[in-house]
Amino acid sequence: MTVVSLALNGRHVSADVEPRTHLADFIRDTQNLTGTHLGCEHGVCGACTVLVDGVPVRSCITFAVTCAGASVTTIEGLDDDETGAELRAAFTREHALQCGYCTPGMLISARDVVLRAEAPDEHAIRVAMSGNLCRCTGYVGIVRAIQSVIADRRARGIAAVTGAGRTALGPAGAGHGAVVAASAVQLGSGKTLIAAQAAAPEELADWKPQASFEKSFVVSYPIEKVWNLFSDTAEVASCLPGASLTGDTGARNVTGKMRIKVGPIAADFHGSAVIDREPATKSGTIEGSGRDPRSSSATRGLIRYRLLPQGADATKVELDVGYRLTGPLAQFSRSDLVNDIAGRMIEAFVQNIEARLSGVATNTATELNAGNLIFSVLLARIRAGLRRLFGRENH
Ligand code: FES
Ligand code: FES
Repeated sequence: MTVVSLALNGRHVSADVEPRTHLADFIRDTQNLTGTHLGCEHGVCGACTVLVDGVPVRSCITFAVTCAGASVTTIEGLDDDETGAELRAAFTREHALQCGYCTPGMLISARDVVLRAEAPDEHAIRVAMSGNLCRCTGYVGIVRAIQSVIADRRARGIAAVTGAGRTALGPAGAGHGAVVAASAVQLGSGKTLIAAQAAAPEELADWKPQASFEKSFVVSYPIEKVWNLFSDTAEVASCLPGASLTGDTGARNVTGKMRIKVGPIAADFHGSAVIDREPATKSGTIEGSGRDPRSSSATRGLIRYRLLPQGADATKVELDVGYRLTGPLAQFSRSDLVNDIAGRMIEAFVQNIEARLSGVATNTATELNAGNLIFSVLLARIRAGLRRLFGRENH
């Protein structure tokens, strides 16, 4: 899985997708923008046309990972576009659509022709639009609509624009190589797969947690010592049951996995995180997302932490955790249950941190057995209930 971040209709968006996911599915399935239609799904009909860096591309044959860092515009992004509005009015006037299935792609390609071609005749428009097929209207109305918009704009003194808003030359997403790091994965067959690993999101302004909780704990070590450990991503990850990192653990963007077992379900969440630290306030954030391909569960989380001195020899760690869990494992995301499980995870985390700080080698569990945690949480609740009922301790 790969986190792909790009600007979609002017918004920064991000999603964790398979490397084979094409841009159309990224737009429709992860961003719920269904104005981009899928017809042939092999680059012939043009229904899926969108703009990537100002260039019309077929999103059904464009990998989402190749668009990391790019600016993508769909038909929804042309709501306030002047040329788009003129074309919509002309398509209506000239009866240039019937079912409308081809229309989003048609309008995006037509806009490119209107902006780019100074004074095309009917034949030139038909050639320029030949990558967009309409199965029901025929092309007379479409060509007339485009011709009328071009004539009207030229009459108003609006000349053709060289490049028509293109911001980069080359294939879709070209020019964004700096934010795509190639990672080599050795396959069992001995072949090497070069997978595009998109940089983690710079900004996730639109992401909203489904639930959140706050926790705090105290470690019996001075704040500077605890801060030093928190500044070492690999050390922190090694204290979390089930967590492991891959690649450069000193980078701001790290990749890794979290192994969780809940009864018969074992999930390996593969993902990435962006880590930011603020030394002046001894605080930081960890924002990450991951996906388990086998259970199709996905998660996204934001952890904010802050260290506060408790006298000279102890440190209080305050945590504010927001998360979203989807897929089969979401059944375990009830907030009170997650809260209890998080409490127990943090107990294990604190024990491991204290052991690290004291120099004792720890053997952190290779998976988070949430099944055991749930069982022990339920047992604790039953005991508390019995205590309340009979007013005495039960064992
Ligand atoms: S769906 Fe992409 S070209 Fe047909
Ligand atoms: S309007 Fe129906 S396919 Fe074009």
